[in-house]
Amino acid sequence: MEGYREFPLGAFRFRRDDYFAYVRFPTQKGGELEHRMGIDAFLRPLARDIAWSFFYGMVKFDDVFGTINHYGRVEVFAGKYHGPYKRSGLWHEEVLARDEVERAFRDMAADWVTEDFDPFAAPRETGSAVGPKRGSNLRALSRKRVVTQRMIRQEDRREPEYPVNAAFKGMEFRYGEMHIKPGHEGKFGLVNLFEYLGRSDVTWNPSIVSVVEHSLFCPSTEEHVLPVKHGNDRVEWFVQLNGQIDWEVCDQNTGELKAYVRMRPGDVAAMPADIQHQGFAPERSMLLVWENADPALPGQVRSGALPGDPDKLVTMK
Ligand code: PHB
Ligand code: FE
Repeated sequence: MEGYREFPLGAFRFRRDDYFAYVRFPTQKGGELEHRMGIDAFLRPLARDIAWSFFYGMVKFDDVFGTINHYGRVEVFAGKYHGPYKRSGLWHEEVLARDEVERAFRDMAADWVTEDFDPFAAPRETGSAVGPKRGSNLRALSRKRVVTQRMIRQEDRREPEYPVNAAFKGMEFRYGEMHIKPGHEGKFGLVNLFEYLGRSDVTWNPSIVSVVEHSLFCPSTEEHVLPVKHGNDRVEWFVQLNGQIDWEVCDQNTGELKAYVRMRPGDVAAMPADIQHQGFAPERSMLLVWENADPALPGQVRSGALPGDPDKLVTMK
């Protein structure tokens, strides 16, 4: 016996063994289906879905299982946004209170993430999640996205908490110069985004560093594979700061491939609201994700009042 607990959520049942996570669900067709994922590939999106409070729109753990954020309620689905599963009636969906889903996911992560596995680290930086139960890693799981509270000031400059990641060793962080007239020291600040990101100890976990009304700058460092396939409920922008990320862009409802995108430093992409995307970064790189957090957007996109296609949002061509 591997020693891991089993978890119910609505009519879903979750269990794990040494190598796999299993999601069991009743289907529209009748009977039950058990879907299997590699345990690392299940725990990485699980940890992010919790940390992001279900994010914007759809978080697919893989092509079959995932969640959709309805902001207060959460749809948990299996097979529903996978063309052949859907057509065959092999799907299930439940809309549950956010707290209920969060509690089940948190309990599952606390029990299933082993002490030597950090779901936010790149594979080269962490042990493996496979094998029998041994401890837990609540410290790694309790990380939250940083949310900026106020403008940074000069006196905020202090000894950095985190070392520069090995992948960015040798990168020069060149600060600009600032000369402040006496008496105004508390009003100005200088930050170097590359240094902030160079010291990030997580991958594919954006932090909110700038908030202007609904406009959020959420930069992140990326390496290996974005553990989720994200189907946004609004247009989202990517600015590649350095390194390279390849994106697979698929239809959000069927998973059908629509495009490959290779982003190099300086490239900017606007991701439409009707697709899902998954990124692949061969080396640690820096990405700025720009989100519009206006809570009215999903309804406006759904009703057609606002285009989900960024091309139609652009007035100047
Ligand atoms: C995304 O789904 O848009 C996303 C998520 C996490 C990241 C980068 C992009 O680190
Ligand atoms: Fe996204």
